[in-house]
Amino acid sequence: MMTASWDRSSVAEEHLRLLMARSETLRLPEPVAGGFGCLGPGPLPESGFGRVNPGFRAYLDRRYHKVVLLVDFIASVGAVGAAAVVEACESFASGSARQWLKVAGDVKADLIDRCLEARRSTDMSVVAEFGAFVGYSCVRMAWRGGPGTRVISMESDAVHVLVARHIAIIARQSFAAEVVPGMAHDVVARLPEEWGCGGTGFAFMDHRGTRFHAELRQLEQLRAMGPGSRLLADNTLKPGAPEFLWNLLHCTPTVPHAGFLSWSVPEFLTDSCEDWMTAADCRP
Ligand SMILES: C[S@@+](CC[C@H](N)C(=O)[O-])C[C@H]1O[C@@H](n2cnc3c(N)ncnc32)[C@H](O)[C@@H]1O
Repeated sequence: MMTASWDRSSVAEEHLRLLMARSETLRLPEPVAGGFGCLGPGPLPESGFGRVNPGFRAYLDRRYHKVVLLVDFIASVGAVGAAAVVEACESFASGSARQWLKVAGDVKADLIDRCLEARRSTDMSVVAEFGAFVGYSCVRMAWRGGPGTRVISMESDAVHVLVARHIAIIARQSFAAEVVPGMAHDVVARLPEEWGCGGTGFAFMDHRGTRFHAELRQLEQLRAMGPGSRLLADNTLKPGAPEFLWNLLHCTPTVPHAGFLSWSVPEFLTDSCEDWMTAADCRP
């Protein structure tokens, strides 16, 4: 999937989507499997789907149960357009504790907005996201970032990739929000490859705290971030990103920055749970 996307091979990507639509091991939510994309549902391959261990299937059902419910919920409320889709995600997540979504909503979303606003109005650089999940913050940034905003969101889970793309389409933001499949450390090189050195104006890290420092080092080595650009990392207190914070604090030669700041913010829909978001600005 990652290679097909990087090579811009839409035929191979569509083939994979069709395989996943029929797959017993990686079942897609019905609206997503039912077909988005240019080729439509088309004929499905006949073989190659072995029997699945029932324990493994139960694990997959559990793993994607909430995502499937979310896709169905958005369809049931008829949300179309960015504002409606973002609101539908938030209202789904507040439905019950079991529907809570690990997305950067509420105060965290406001902070992301402030960082997007801080970009110069003439800035043509791209926004990079590490971890798309269902596409909530990806769609929100594409929408709230204003005209010309382009978001590239890297996501390692194939089902999340397809769901985030589906949600970007019904949010009418797929022209501005691209979900790139693959582990962040494998696909981050696409940023300078497609947007040039210094072409990334804002990066939002929300994938795995224990990886933030490594991805930051890669961004630096690739010279992906532009002068004066900002990087914002979520969950730096909980679950935490100690090596990332240590690197910022000691300003190692590999991560030069003009300064950094952590904000104490409540976790999405969980006021009693303190978290931090940390921003670091690259030297102008
Ligand atoms: C907290 S969720 C992202 C939420 C999203 N930013 C939002 O606010 O709507 C984290 C996502 O990162 C993905 N992920 C975890 N490790 C990753 C990696 N190394 N590279 C890319 N994606 C990763 C997970 O599959 C998950 O979908």
